[in-house]
Amino acid sequence: MVKFRSRLFGTEFDPPLILASGILDQTAESIQRLIKKGMGGVVTKSIGTEPREGHPNPTIVELDTGLLNAMGLPNQGIEDFKNEMEKLESELEEEPIIGSIFASDPDDFSHLAGKMTRYGADMVELNLSCPHAEGYGAQIASDDEIMERVIKKVDERIQEPILAKLPPSNEIAKNAVLAERSGADGIVCINTVRAMAVNFETQEPILGNKIGGYSGPGIKPIGLRCVYEVYREVDIPIIGCGGITDGRDALEYILAGASALQMGSALHHRGKDAVEKVSKEATELMRKEGIDDIEEIIGGAH
Ligand SMILES: Cc1cc2nc3c(=O)[nH]c(=O)nc-3n(C[C@H](O)[C@H](O)[C@H](O)COP(=O)(O)O)c2cc1C
Repeated sequence: MVKFRSRLFGTEFDPPLILASGILDQTAESIQRLIKKGMGGVVTKSIGTEPREGHPNPTIVELDTGLLNAMGLPNQGIEDFKNEMEKLESELEEEPIIGSIFASDPDDFSHLAGKMTRYGADMVELNLSCPHAEGYGAQIASDDEIMERVIKKVDERIQEPILAKLPPSNEIAKNAVLAERSGADGIVCINTVRAMAVNFETQEPILGNKIGGYSGPGIKPIGLRCVYEVYREVDIPIIGCGGITDGRDALEYILAGASALQMGSALHHRGKDAVEKVSKEATELMRKEGIDDIEEIIGGAH
């Protein structure tokens, strides 16, 4: 029996495919639907201290090789999100819920992490990597001192595992080492890649925010490079993300060093049952190659 599943921080991810933050995960109902479609766990939309509208339209552009988005972290704020978390908590059986949070300073991160776990999150993912929201996300990870303070404060506040989601910079391995030293229990890489689209006819940027984040198949080589570089430097588990669209992509990330995976844009490209398809394809490929357990191949490309 091929084992396409993993155990991280004492929690089973079966399959090791987790819904990435920001894709069909704003309400308990949509998250439950995806769990029923076979997701091994979910990350919530990134939630902040207060409600936030996000960037002006258009916020999404479809490209041949993926998506470009500049949502700008729209969300209802942690107090309102409590209802969704409680609904989820009561309906889910054992699938892990990872609460994603964003803030501009260590105190707000710590406050949000405390609330997320109190409202039912089994783990917290720190969004240190959104490439298009001024003062948040990737700007936090670009400042070593702030990033260290954010993670340390969250670590002092909660007992649950802390995942640091990092941007795909050239410094990702150095960032990951700092995150590990500051108290992160796992690294998630990558978020979207800072990018833009221009309309030839109007001679203007297409996104309302002009700059956005690129996701989907086109960023897979960047995600793989990041996982590969981080794996060489840290001892904590890595969750790979970025362009995972079929079973082969998933296994390539595991060979680069990931112990579990997240999927986002694939749901757009292959439909809501993308996870079932990816799971089936990965299991089939493992069987063909005589791999019984993904444990055997984590980091195998090194
Ligand atoms: C529409 C959209 C919204 C997103 N919102 C968030 C978010 O709120 N927080 C976050 O950490 N990442 C967010 N992401 C990034 C994804 O979680 C993921 O890291 C990225 O899309 C790469 O994975 P993929 O190629 O499988 O989509 C968003 C991505 C998309 C396409």
